[in-house]
Amino acid sequence: MSTQLGTLAELPQEYRDAMTRVGVAPLWPQMRNVLPHGAPVPVTKSHLWAFADVRPLLLRAGELTPVEKAERRVLFLADPGRGPGAMQATSTIYIGLQLLLPGETAPAHKHTPSAARIVVEGEGAYTVVDGDKLPMHVGDLILTPGGCWHDHGHAGNAPVIWLDALDLPLFVYLEGSYAVEAPLQSPRNRPDASEVEYRSAGLAPVRRRDRPASTAYPMMRFPWARTEAALRHLAEHNGGEAIELDYVNPETGQSCLPTMGFTAMMLRAGETRRPPQRSASAVYHVVSGRGSTMINGATHHWGPKDTFSAPVFAAIEHTSASDSPAFLVRIHDTPLQEKLGYYEERAR
Ligand SMILES: [Fe+2]
Repeated sequence: MSTQLGTLAELPQEYRDAMTRVGVAPLWPQMRNVLPHGAPVPVTKSHLWAFADVRPLLLRAGELTPVEKAERRVLFLADPGRGPGAMQATSTIYIGLQLLLPGETAPAHKHTPSAARIVVEGEGAYTVVDGDKLPMHVGDLILTPGGCWHDHGHAGNAPVIWLDALDLPLFVYLEGSYAVEAPLQSPRNRPDASEVEYRSAGLAPVRRRDRPASTAYPMMRFPWARTEAALRHLAEHNGGEAIELDYVNPETGQSCLPTMGFTAMMLRAGETRRPPQRSASAVYHVVSGRGSTMINGATHHWGPKDTFSAPVFAAIEHTSASDSPAFLVRIHDTPLQEKLGYYEERAR
């Protein structure tokens, strides 16, 4: 099992030079790097980005760079395992914090990667997705799936900050990432689907043969007020189990984006939870509450609006502060791994 494989240094220099000239290389010296035993060896290093640290830099970007010069005024979270400038928080997940000032607009574009926003601070902003105007309240999850036109506007009177989550690293790796730009959209004059067709969990518009359900992305906005109410209600009735809800496509019950999944979690006051070791990587965003999370032995202390990452197969232990519950959104790449047929959970 643990046979020591040959190294490059064991090969004659003239043979190595000859391989280089022809454009080939031996697999065996690198075999264990790409196929380690038992579990992957993640490059991602768990990290906590405190909102209090990022916020002033983001507001400064508002002074330094007009939105027209940025298109999207974003500071992205760089995984320390990949070094400064790494445009990924984990292997597959890109996270940015975006600032929109009152009166500003971010022009329409669409792109191959899918995105979701979680509103972090401020009221009055909105996103228009394929003509649907979606209000942005703190904690709301808003989808902009790949290929859907989206632009942003802000009718409030204080800065708005939201978190962007994209499967951008995957699309860059696939050499499949690009965008198309357009002027601002004219929104339809009606509330979005979360206020009309999909108002209640388990209730969907009646299926009609002459008007089949649109199953790809039927609902783009998941209002936080409803999510938090559902978590609190579940907490009262689930017999002390972990309180976590999946954001799903209300027509299919499947993940709401192709590669990224989202769950809303509640930790009761003073509760400790040790989820299984998952093959998926994750980014956690704290909507409200305080606590700490130990990831592979290192402890992150978190508060409202902080964001932290966990690599694949991480040993995780969440503990909320003893005086109030905590609410977090977990962004993960389980749907991608399920499609590839290798998603796994290991009991601890
Ligand atoms: Fe975009």
